[in-house]
Amino acid sequence: MSVSYTIDVTRLHAAIRLVMRGFGSEEAEVEAITANLIEANLTGHDSHGIGMLPRYVEAYQQRGLVPNQHVRTVLDAGSMLRLDGGAGFGQVIGYEAMQLGIARALQHGSCIVALGNSHHLGRIGAWAELATKSGLVSLHFVNVMARSIVAPYGGADARFGTNPFAAGIPVTGRMPVILDFATSMMAQGKTRVAFNKGELVPPDCLLDDHGRPTREPRFGVNPPFGALLAFGAHKGYGLALLCELLGGALAAGMTQHSEDVAQRRILNGMLTVLIDPAALADRAAFEHETLAFIDWVKASPAREGFDSVRIAGEPEREMLAHRTAHGVPVDATTWSEILDAAGRLGVDRAEVSAAADVS
Ligand SMILES: NC(=O)c1ccc[n+]([C@@H]2O[C@H](COP(=O)([O-])OP(=O)(O)OC[C@H]3O[C@@H](n4cnc5c(N)ncnc54)[C@H](O)[C@@H]3O)[C@@H](O)[C@H]2O)c1
Repeated sequence: MSVSYTIDVTRLHAAIRLVMRGFGSEEAEVEAITANLIEANLTGHDSHGIGMLPRYVEAYQQRGLVPNQHVRTVLDAGSMLRLDGGAGFGQVIGYEAMQLGIARALQHGSCIVALGNSHHLGRIGAWAELATKSGLVSLHFVNVMARSIVAPYGGADARFGTNPFAAGIPVTGRMPVILDFATSMMAQGKTRVAFNKGELVPPDCLLDDHGRPTREPRFGVNPPFGALLAFGAHKGYGLALLCELLGGALAAGMTQHSEDVAQRRILNGMLTVLIDPAALADRAAFEHETLAFIDWVKASPAREGFDSVRIAGEPEREMLAHRTAHGVPVDATTWSEILDAAGRLGVDRAEVSAAADVS
């Protein structure tokens, strides 16, 4: 059994702020990234939480990630925006891009935002949540410019990233529907989490370096690398392809076709479609039908092995409530990697551990 710490949320914020200041980020950026990463842990997506920091430090030290960037408008066509993230922290660039898109969608009824050259945008559902808070439907197609880690359907090696898709639907008087997933069987960070915990990955998720099925997470973490499989066979692979063509070719003007595995930066391209349901449809009818369908679906009796039917977004909110109350579990390997990364930024490791109350 690997050692794991449970860190109080307030203390974790204090500790991660110390690490983030090592990048030389402005205080608003420190706060935005700290909150976004910890929220990923709180919602149960440790793959996109504070465990990303070592990778961010490597990217920063290779100058592939640039602190203190703000989104730049390349094209303003009213209800279509083309934006450039300047390789800045995706937590800031993504937020600014969404704010611009949301304002336009509220003005015009819809907006298409093409965002390129943003460093890692983290949990894409966070951007869908932002849109639903303004009453908007949102769709997000995302590509990943980094070492290829997912095999095409029928292929034996990796050719693209975990290309996430997300969507948000506001539900008046209820929490929104937030569908948000990698198009691979599992997120890449989950192989790292399993590796650090000394666990196997589930079957049918990963290929080894010869294209054979394996449950050993090291094929996702250390060379010689294997490849993740896309979810849903040819269907998930098809969605991954769309994410590359829409988030990459269309939105970012960049797709993944490089053999360069030395680059540690993770650039995301994201095509976002924002729709104001009140501008497109009869709002009352939309809300009525949405609620009626959700209630109908949730009324299905739970089958063996399940406790209830959930709607996308609910598992994250349940985990958020639990971890906010009881603390965030962080395995010892991940914590020591974060401390090493802090050290590389010139941040005092002992201060970070003391802030988190981890000894
Ligand atoms: N920025 C990037 O480059 C990048 C790349 C890949 C993934 N990601 C992020 O990684 C995160 C994790 O992705 P993942 O593929 O591991 O997610 P996942 O497999 O845990 O799936 C999450 C989705 O499934 C829904 N869900 C889960 N259990 C459910 C249930 N029992 N009933 C109904 N719905 C349920 C969740 O609400 C959520 O919408 C996501 O936030 C994604 O955006 C980011």
